[in-house]
Amino acid sequence: MTKSWIVALGGSLLKNREGHDLDDWFSGLISTCKKLQESEKRIGFVVGGGSPARYGINLAKNSVSEPHRLDLIGISATKLNATTIQQVLISNGIDVADSIPNTIEEAVKLLGSHQFVCMGGTTPGHTTDTVATRLAIASGASSCTVATDVPFVYDKDPNKFGDAVALNQLNLARLAEICGVGKEFIPGQSAVIDPIAVGEAISHSIEMNVLDGKRIELLESALFGREFQGSRITVE
Ligand code: UTP
Repeated sequence: MTKSWIVALGGSLLKNREGHDLDDWFSGLISTCKKLQESEKRIGFVVGGGSPARYGINLAKNSVSEPHRLDLIGISATKLNATTIQQVLISNGIDVADSIPNTIEEAVKLLGSHQFVCMGGTTPGHTTDTVATRLAIASGASSCTVATDVPFVYDKDPNKFGDAVALNQLNLARLAEICGVGKEFIPGQSAVIDPIAVGEAISHSIEMNVLDGKRIELLESALFGREFQGSRITVE
């Protein structure tokens, strides 16, 4: 099979807000996918749950005692968002698998027969960053690109610290320190990259990229191996 490129698309990208017009963003995504289709690259999009995940988890959180049940709500939201991207792309002539895989194995299989696969979450206990990293490992991709709503990995949380520094280049060990690998997973939690994903990337030597997913041109550059504004996370 041709080499695959795996992208974690943050669910927050699927929300209209000032400076982020969803119709424009979809147009950009469609145009990039057309170029990727011509280049015969295989692309796996793993889509996050964004607002519907937070909405559903918040509705139920005081009445549900087992965390995995909240995760299941989050997973449904990721599949809703994955279906939205899938249908937009299919209706614009992109060769996307017409089912949303429930497992990594199904996704790898579908990547054998379609150029694009869209999926959401799989099982409780992690986020779609981990799904994307696992799909990168299983499909033989050498890197996983996280297109999210922050433009870089910062040395500390930029929402809390005014002196946070954007990192253009770092290694997985540094990313692990920043993301807190080894800490407990909380449903609906938000970190630049899910620590479980970082742990898997370390175990399987998967390079990661983090970039501002609102700017499709950055994602296009990363997928075509060109320079892009964002953080490159190397193995060593
Ligand atoms: P997301 O992957 O959307 O997490 O999953 P996120 O950190 O909120 O990412 P953004 O903001 O969309 O980029 C949402 C929730 O769904 C559950 C978890 O509870 C997660 O916090 N989930 C998702 C799982 O349990 N397993 C999965 O495979 C995916």
